[in-house]
Amino acid sequence: MVKKSPSAPSGTATTGPVAAYPRTRMRRNRADDWTRRMVAENVLTPADFIWPVFVHDGASPVAIDSMPGVERQTVESLVAAVGEAKSLGIPAIAIFPATETALRTDDGREAYNPDNLVCRSVRAVKSAHPDIGVMCDVALDPFTDHGHDGLVRDGKIINDETVEALIKQALVQADAGCDIIAPSDMMDGRIGAIRDALEGANHKNVRIMAYAAKYSSAFYGPFRDALGSSGHLKGDKRTYQMDPANGDEALREVALDIAEGADMLIVKPGMAYLDIVHRVKTEFGLPTFAYQVSGEYAMLKAAALNGWLDDERVMMESLMAFKRAGADGVLTYFAVAAATILNDGSNGTKK
Ligand code: PBG
Repeated sequence: MVKKSPSAPSGTATTGPVAAYPRTRMRRNRADDWTRRMVAENVLTPADFIWPVFVHDGASPVAIDSMPGVERQTVESLVAAVGEAKSLGIPAIAIFPATETALRTDDGREAYNPDNLVCRSVRAVKSAHPDIGVMCDVALDPFTDHGHDGLVRDGKIINDETVEALIKQALVQADAGCDIIAPSDMMDGRIGAIRDALEGANHKNVRIMAYAAKYSSAFYGPFRDALGSSGHLKGDKRTYQMDPANGDEALREVALDIAEGADMLIVKPGMAYLDIVHRVKTEFGLPTFAYQVSGEYAMLKAAALNGWLDDERVMMESLMAFKRAGADGVLTYFAVAAATILNDGSNGTKK
């Protein structure tokens, strides 16, 4: 398997003196495939990908209309799909549950039922494939009847009570065997609270990958379809997710999460926020991941299905952009398709 190369954000190298044309001809190094490969500054490997997957309690997998090629898996089909991902060299998956309407409540208590769909999926995946990393979101939205990530009182999302529920959710997931807890709720103070609870429960090696800079984005639309939460969401998430207008604020969010014990960071969405990926990696140097979200996947797929874009090439180019921006990896619905191409011999820079 190809080893992952260390990636430095482009733009950190200083440009030295440059000889004038024709002594410098930038096209010399681009003239042949071998030289292009030799000077490539970034590479993609299957180890760069975390594969987000959807699971439901139905009898068979169901297609998601707004995410062509993505399905809500059954626990059984998920286990098989994860085996394939593992053999392609993908290091980790992230499990998202489509919770039945009957189990969604005002307080989202199904989130910390130790036998909920997420926990059952984690146990099934880890017992079949102990050596692939399993990541779980911490947020109440798959479980609330109002579709918010937190508890609502008098029309407001209440922070501190929500954190108490998130702690319980993180603990049942860690008990089920989840390796990486990924709080995506954007409540204040939840990273420290979850870290302390994990330490207290002897889950010392359970990692926290914080959705540290998560924006209030319209690019999440297809994901909410996939979870069946679009119909549920009342209002929007702007009182807890970030304003797309802000960059400096993302650095404050990240600094706080690091101070509270985050092991790894996520910037989300991806393509429209590459400046944030670059700033976060450059400023803090922690393992930093970009989430190429459902809407990004959907727009590339839709154009490809119309014959307007080349599916494979835009997929690889968009993934490479994250590496160039400084990301250590990407959460992407393209993980299996991209890893398949990389295993077929392309280094991801060729096309
Ligand atoms: C839930 C969550 C969301 C996503 C990941 N976790 C949606 C949201 O915040 O509304 C979006 C992922 C995607 O669009 O692919 N907290």
